[in-house]
Amino acid sequence: MAAGWLLAAAALAAVEVSAVEVSTPEEMFVENGTDAKLPCTFTSVEVISSAASVSWSFQPEGAATRISFFYYFNGRSYPGKDLPFKDRITWTGDLNKKDASISISNMQFRDNGTYICDVKNPPDIVVKPGEIRVRVVEKDSLPAFPIAMVAGIVIGTVTGLTPLISIVVCLVIRKNNSKKRYSGDPDIDARLGM
Ligand SMILES: *[C@@H]1O[C@H](CO)[C@@H](O)[C@H](O)[C@H]1NC(C)=O
Ligand SMILES: *[C@@H]1O[C@H](CO)[C@@H](O)[C@H](O)[C@H]1NC(C)=O
Repeated sequence: MAAGWLLAAAALAAVEVSAVEVSTPEEMFVENGTDAKLPCTFTSVEVISSAASVSWSFQPEGAATRISFFYYFNGRSYPGKDLPFKDRITWTGDLNKKDASISISNMQFRDNGTYICDVKNPPDIVVKPGEIRVRVVEKDSLPAFPIAMVAGIVIGTVTGLTPLISIVVCLVIRKNNSKKRYSGDPDIDARLGM
């Protein structure tokens, strides 16, 4: 009995080892109206054969089911018909480089959801598909400014220089303001080095 269990466990382990391993980012933010490049790479212990295929599915945010919307096989792309993505998908992968990525143009808010990348490389067909959670956000809502501000606060806190930085910023602002009072006269401006 124990030997049977061991055999089963060994078989399971062997299956795990020979599986296709898919990797994708977990989450992505995309601005509406822009292209979403959905990266997906994989490894397989088998040589990539002409029987290898890729399928991408989509599960809208809040929906319980996923639909397959793209299939790649033998050098050809098959975008699903009658789907919101149908004319917006570009195959950007290269199976010889173990790359199964696609790009979807003109992302809209209704494209929010989970994108699932599944690769089969027979006889290597045991796969845990990669899942990317894509959040479509309003254009220009991913500005650099808050990132710079957060970075500044973090650096300030880490180095303990927050009060010093604040003082420097205040001085610079005051200096600029006082300069403005004198501006207008080219001679004075020149002397002030403006
Ligand atoms: C993005 O969404 C905003 C808000 O709905 C809209 O005003 C804008 O036109 C959209 N931009 C694009 C490029 O789709
Ligand atoms: C899409 O996701 C963004 C970010 O989570 C959210 O602000 C937006 O309301 C969502 N849109 C839809 C249609 O679900």
